[in-house]
Amino acid sequence: MKIGAVTLESPVALAPMAGMTDTAFRRLVKRKGGCGLVVTEMVSSEGLVRGIDRTLEYAEYTEEERPVSIQIFGGDPAVMADAAQIVEGMGADIVDINMGCPVPKIAKHSAGCSLMRDPAHAAGIVRAMAKAVRIPVTVKMRAGWNEREVNAPDLAKRVEDAGAAAVAVHGRTAAQAYRGESDWSLISQVAESVSIPVFGSGDCVEPEHVLQRLRETAVSGVLVGRGALRNPWIFSQAAALAAGAPSVDDVPFEERGRFLLEYIDLLLRERVGEAEGFRHVAPGQSTAPVPARGRERWVINKLRALGSWYTKGLEGGSQLRVAINSTETIDDLRMLIRGFFGIGVEAVA
Ligand SMILES: Cc1cc2nc3c(=O)[nH]c(=O)nc-3n(C[C@H](O)[C@H](O)[C@H](O)COP(=O)(O)O)c2cc1C
Repeated sequence: MKIGAVTLESPVALAPMAGMTDTAFRRLVKRKGGCGLVVTEMVSSEGLVRGIDRTLEYAEYTEEERPVSIQIFGGDPAVMADAAQIVEGMGADIVDINMGCPVPKIAKHSAGCSLMRDPAHAAGIVRAMAKAVRIPVTVKMRAGWNEREVNAPDLAKRVEDAGAAAVAVHGRTAAQAYRGESDWSLISQVAESVSIPVFGSGDCVEPEHVLQRLRETAVSGVLVGRGALRNPWIFSQAAALAAGAPSVDDVPFEERGRFLLEYIDLLLRERVGEAEGFRHVAPGQSTAPVPARGRERWVINKLRALGSWYTKGLEGGSQLRVAINSTETIDDLRMLIRGFFGIGVEAVA
């Protein structure tokens, strides 16, 4: 499928997830195969324009993640257009607008999902960005603000007219947050009402769900969020099923453990500036090396965040989660993971 001039090899993409879909995680997902597009965590347009280091970090990506979409949030069309130009200057393939975040801190600044309540303003942001850049501008929205204001089909049409190259819809309202189920019949209705590609999002936690949505609804693509945090192999498994495999095998326990060890290694390298191929707004604006102790704490916190999803459904998963949460050093974390997943030290080296 295509988004503007960008070709995706698979219609199944990694959904943007703040705190989770960092460059290390995205690279590992890509290495497992089957993922057609990765989207960064949401990045503040104001932070980008002001060149704030922490914001720039969120937008970092590596070549092996391509095609890559950088998601930005904000409510000011001029700032969003400037931020889109910065994203384009960083070499990203796509710039995505967050119109789905329900968190009050974001929504109260006329950004995130509150943009859905002002469709003319939302379309104005798309128009300003589409005029400012040559890369495709896409929009990720929810079903609507609340059950009385479900307007994804109307908003999708408006942003298409304003120049959006694709739309993604999470079929819950902001008021719902993550309660209830994603409304795939509404998502399908959106797909039928516009001629740009529409990605559906919500509750695809098994590879079979991905295929079912692709086959039974009008969407062009599917975003996988939480399902990928539990099972980063979901993309390659969905691709295998799509290619005709009758079923997919469980990922070997050891391999699941190795994923976590690789994640730790990538995170550690990233923060000392050893990773190759990072793109920044300008040379010299790369992340300053973090002192060893701060780095260790950051990596441990990252593992705790991923662990809370990754261990779900795993045999003994809750014990592992508790153990990860009480581990204080990287060495102990590695030892814990090797022990739990039965990985010998020599197998890792
Ligand atoms: C931890 C977490 C962080 C998220 N952060 C973002 C975000 O930054 N931008 C965004 O558009 N959606 C975000 N989402 C929403 C997801 O992209 C996705 O639409 C939603 O989780 C439903 O899909 P799923 O059931 O496959 O997880 C986030 C979801 C989770 C669970």
